[in-house]
Amino acid sequence: MTENYTHLPVMPEEVARLLVTDKEGVYVDATLGMAGHTLKLLSVLGPNARVIGVDWDPEMAAIAAKNTAGLGDRVKIIQGNFANIDEMMNRENIKNISGVLFDLGVSSLHFDKALRGFSLRNDGPLDMRINQTNPLTAYAILRYWPYEQIEHLIRVCGERNAGKIARAIITKRETKPLETTGELRDLVERVLPYRGEKTHPATKTFLSLRVAVNYEFDNLTRGIQKIIPFLSKGGRIGIITFHSLEDRIVKETFKFMTKMGDWHAVTKKPVTPSQEEEAANNRARSAKLRVIEKI
Ligand SMILES: C[S@@+](CC[C@H](N)C(=O)[O-])C[C@H]1O[C@@H](n2cnc3c(N)ncnc32)[C@H](O)[C@@H]1O
Repeated sequence: MTENYTHLPVMPEEVARLLVTDKEGVYVDATLGMAGHTLKLLSVLGPNARVIGVDWDPEMAAIAAKNTAGLGDRVKIIQGNFANIDEMMNRENIKNISGVLFDLGVSSLHFDKALRGFSLRNDGPLDMRINQTNPLTAYAILRYWPYEQIEHLIRVCGERNAGKIARAIITKRETKPLETTGELRDLVERVLPYRGEKTHPATKTFLSLRVAVNYEFDNLTRGIQKIIPFLSKGGRIGIITFHSLEDRIVKETFKFMTKMGDWHAVTKKPVTPSQEEEAANNRARSAKLRVIEKI
């Protein structure tokens, strides 16, 4: 059952204000989730505007369908990876869009539902797949990948003790491979004791596994590249990131696009949530919104 899960969209007002340039245009919500941003966009758009909502996770697409029931053809939901967004646009015969939003990462549901294996607090299987038809799981990485690859992926996500953690994983699997998120959290705690800090010492290890399982950086780069030809002049790309690696990819990509001359930055600096929003929504704390416009 999924009825009790909720997800508060991050910076909905800012997204609507900065993304919408044509009130009757076609918009793409590339990370539909529970449709929070889609509903916000539709509330400021005119009756002829449409939102195409994409989510890789069939469970999220089904929830979004429920949450947008009654909106008729103002919303079209497509289940798929935004890395292939060009194929989706071609299939729908969509040529000119006014804006696209990428609200990166996973939904609150993914963390709250222990069985999906994303959470270091709710014990569950080491899964972490956004789309569960994907053959690669966190369990497989921790069980089969060599030390060097595990150390590398943890280090890339900014964990200074990647070597220690990777060695502990390899030693542990010689007797019994890690099977649950709780076991992984406990193993990291043995290497890096938890003293009640705001950020748990296993946070970067969990993030690195999620990013690797879902090839999130590849998807992001491809998603941006593939949507570019479908934007009208004056059309905008808005991206919300939740950690510095993702934000660096967006910042560098947007910088390159503006340098090439076809785009200009709408946000010179990333927009961040208000203090009120941060207080009301813990997930918003690390969010950054960057917006760019096609000239
Ligand atoms: C932060 S949530 C979006 C929440 C949404 N804006 C809302 O208001 O409910 C990110 C969503 O993107 C989806 N997602 C992650 N990677 C994706 C990808 N490569 N292609 C399509 N959807 C993806 C996740 O399944 C998740 O539902």
